[in-house]
Amino acid sequence: MSAVEEAKRAAAKVAVEKHYPKDARWVGIGSGTTIVYVVEAINALGVDTSATKYIPTGYQSKQLIINAGLTAVEFDAIPQGTILDVAFDGADEVDEDLNCIKGGGACLFQEKIVAMQAKEFICVADHRKLQPRLLSNWKSIPIEVAPIAAHRVIRKLEELGSVNPVIRPSASEKEGPLKTDQGFFIIDAPFKPLLIKADIEAGQDGNGKDGVWAVSVLADKIREITGVLEVGVFHGLTGPQATAAGGIGGQRPV
Ligand code: 5RP
Repeated sequence: MSAVEEAKRAAAKVAVEKHYPKDARWVGIGSGTTIVYVVEAINALGVDTSATKYIPTGYQSKQLIINAGLTAVEFDAIPQGTILDVAFDGADEVDEDLNCIKGGGACLFQEKIVAMQAKEFICVADHRKLQPRLLSNWKSIPIEVAPIAAHRVIRKLEELGSVNPVIRPSASEKEGPLKTDQGFFIIDAPFKPLLIKADIEAGQDGNGKDGVWAVSVLADKIREITGVLEVGVFHGLTGPQATAAGGIGGQRPV
């Protein structure tokens, strides 16, 4: 196994051993390659999972749950008002305030609704993902958009300072743009590194002057564009029952 795979597996093992509630009944399972090791680590715990429902964040995640012998229940089939005990997911990049870029695997909308429905969101990110600011290493923000609005959204993103936002192609160029599980497109929008709280406290502006934005300000601006379903910035969101220890942005990546 390569060093990178070892790092993902180690991060997943620590995250599950520390944060998986032994009596969990509802568990969100994210998407990507790290989450494969999360599911492996859940099975390795040796707890009784027979009464536990696992909520996928897309097609890949659902197959992963089923192939691991666990019970998958789609998000729209969970009883109204159900709060997930915990949601695990990966990230493409994490900053010092624990904001994340997600959507490298094009599942960001379902990942966000599942995360927001959980008491605790556990971001499983190995050492390569942690950067001082978002968009240090990972250069663009994934944004899920209605196909009919894609070109209009691109123009609006350019107005916000994005240089050369592009519609993500499918693996085979001949098939045209990549389609998400919702049948939407992903736009990858490059921006300058996003300011964190310490930058704002130190007097930087963060309101888009010279294309420099604070994380939450830019994420909110993008979400306001008509045609955007969701933006791949997870920042300071908290689940419906979040406690001081819970919520997106509230968990240190492991
Ligand atoms: C998919 C995601 C993934 O969580 C993210 O891309 C991380 O993936 P990996 O664990 O393969 O690095 O947001 O949309």
